[in-house]
Amino acid sequence: MKLLVVGSGGREHALCWALAASPLCDKLWCAPGNAGIAGTAECVDIAADDLDRLVAFARDHAVDLVVVGPEAPLVAGLVDQLAVAGIRAFGPRAAAAALEGSKGFMKDLCARHRIPTAGYRRFTDPALAKAYVAQRTLPIVIKADGLAAGKGVTIAHDVAEAGAAIDEALVGGRFGRAGAELVIEDFLAGEEVSFFAIVDGTTALPLAAAQDHKAVGDGDTGPNTGGMGAYSPAPVLTPALEQKVMERIILPTVRGMAAEGRPFTGVLFAGLMITPGADGPEPTLIEFNVRFGDPECQTLLLRLKSDLLPVLVAAADGTLDQVTLEWLDQAALCVVMAAAGYPGPVVGGTAIRGLDAAAAVPGVTVFHAGTRADADGTIRAAGGRVLGVAARAATVAEAQRNAYRAVDALDWPEGFCRRDIGWRAITRDPSRP
Ligand code: AMP
Ligand code: GLY
Repeated sequence: MKLLVVGSGGREHALCWALAASPLCDKLWCAPGNAGIAGTAECVDIAADDLDRLVAFARDHAVDLVVVGPEAPLVAGLVDQLAVAGIRAFGPRAAAAALEGSKGFMKDLCARHRIPTAGYRRFTDPALAKAYVAQRTLPIVIKADGLAAGKGVTIAHDVAEAGAAIDEALVGGRFGRAGAELVIEDFLAGEEVSFFAIVDGTTALPLAAAQDHKAVGDGDTGPNTGGMGAYSPAPVLTPALEQKVMERIILPTVRGMAAEGRPFTGVLFAGLMITPGADGPEPTLIEFNVRFGDPECQTLLLRLKSDLLPVLVAAADGTLDQVTLEWLDQAALCVVMAAAGYPGPVVGGTAIRGLDAAAAVPGVTVFHAGTRADADGTIRAAGGRVLGVAARAATVAEAQRNAYRAVDALDWPEGFCRRDIGWRAITRDPSRP
């Protein structure tokens, strides 16, 4: 098969790494890719949001499957355009990608199908939004309806902060059209976990849970990022909770989307809060994403024993009911290395050395996110999140030790990482349910 992966982050490096290992893969392109991806795939200089050129490339090169990494081209309709051109793709069409592209749509769908999520209302009028906030308990969560590159959520601890967030979006136009409508929802307290399923329109195949670390600083301090590290499996999601997630959240969503004429295919990524309930912990849906998480994907694919490619093909073809997955009996953990200043403005172009020494640590794979290569092969930072140093081992604790040994083998003074990725799993009392 000839494959095209769309995207340029650590997630796409992990996808290319897994797909290139498939005996079914004859040719692998990645658009636009990065310096690490260039080691496993042929990079094509087409941006992930340049839909017309991506479709033309796939048609001209007789691509058998396009695998779309990021959300923006999915929400913009890349899979729809590929379908018109007769090209098979893994990922939802625009109508189904609305689960991530419009938080209001996602909340209304949950309401129609009784999927547990925080209480909410949708607003376009700032005065009505503020009046609603005045009636609710604090903290309260203000969200831009559309895609806002991870910056569209404010957790407001007082009325003034909420009012400012409302005005910035609805009056100041901070998020453009993505923030012309807001979802205002109740705050959920608990432990967050990400759960992933692959869906073919009707069948949902559970993958696994992973836990991301969104805050930039150790101990979950400082501003939110795209994710500073992840590990899988996540012990907070017990088998009993996973069953509840499938029965109460994933399956009703898949059925509801199909019944509403928007069948979902691709990765359904449920961001969950595990909240205390009368009979023990309960999963509540924070949000859906319509793609793999980054860096969660890196940890899931390190643990997957099955060949990924036939699974993605089956999802695209509607034959997932014939697929079973095998997993390694190991944990995986990924530490993100970011350029100094992230998630604010960063200085790009600094040289990264020691990559071979890092990759030589047992069980370690170094995924690239924002990197580029000079003509002489020097790897340079080109983005906020730059590397994903990932390790696979018998336990999360051992994977953490090896990942940080690899981090310490790198020579990149302008880079930084959190030093506590995986702490919740490692400090969790194993006797706790
Ligand atoms: P997002 O940018 O949509 O991924 O949301 C960013 C983060 O905001 C989530 O990962 C949660 O940590 C937090 N968040 C969003 N909604 C809520 C909520 N209703 N209650 C508590 N935290 C929330
Ligand atoms: N790591 C969170 C995300 O991919 O949205």
